[in-house]
Amino acid sequence: MNLQGNGFVIRRAFSDDEAQLEFIRSFYFGPFLSWSREDLKSQVERGQVWVLTSEECILAYLSDREVGDDIEVLSLAVSPRHLQRGLMEKLMSELYFDQNKAACQGSVFLEVHEKNQRAIRLYERLNFVLIGRRPVYYSDGGAALVFKRDRRSG
Ligand SMILES: CC(C)(COP(=O)(O)OP(=O)(O)OC[C@H]1O[C@@H](n2cnc3c(N)ncnc32)[C@H](O)[C@@H]1OP(=O)(O)O)[C@@H](O)C(=O)NCCC(=O)NCCS
Repeated sequence: MNLQGNGFVIRRAFSDDEAQLEFIRSFYFGPFLSWSREDLKSQVERGQVWVLTSEECILAYLSDREVGDDIEVLSLAVSPRHLQRGLMEKLMSELYFDQNKAACQGSVFLEVHEKNQRAIRLYERLNFVLIGRRPVYYSDGGAALVFKRDRRSG
């Protein structure tokens, strides 16, 4: 999958990507917090991880799973050197909301810590709608906000 000639490629991750993925994951998520190294490894093995690359360097990743017609986003992160370039917006738009794709049906669901303002801004920019709140969801006692966007909506 190519992104409009700007050198970015979106593809599934494979086991050779694990070191680069782990570099990004461990920058944000500690060994006991949220998604672990083992979680990410098994998501790669199950074919649940997408990467956005430039010259085989992973700039961002996202893991998800299909639940019927719907998609549940499990985890996502942008390489610390490549934040605030709109790369996650590109990755999510291309994967889920490209209206030219026949598979554009169902909804995308995700959860985010109530204090993760940067991620919340990203989801709102992508027209996700807040549909629920799960109190005391994370290990620090924080609530999870649940967002949804229909894949056909603009
Ligand atoms: C959440 C996260 C993925 C957002 O990454 P990001 O780089 O800020 O998001 P985007 O790739 O969409 O970039 C958007 C930002 O780039 C800026 N930007 C610069 N050039 C841009 C362009 N051409 N197009 C769009 N946005 C651009 C936007 O203004 C925006 O900045 P803002 O957030 O200050 O408003 C990132 O902060 C991250 O990896 N966090 C750690 C992991 C995490 O919290 N994951 C979520 C829970 S699992």
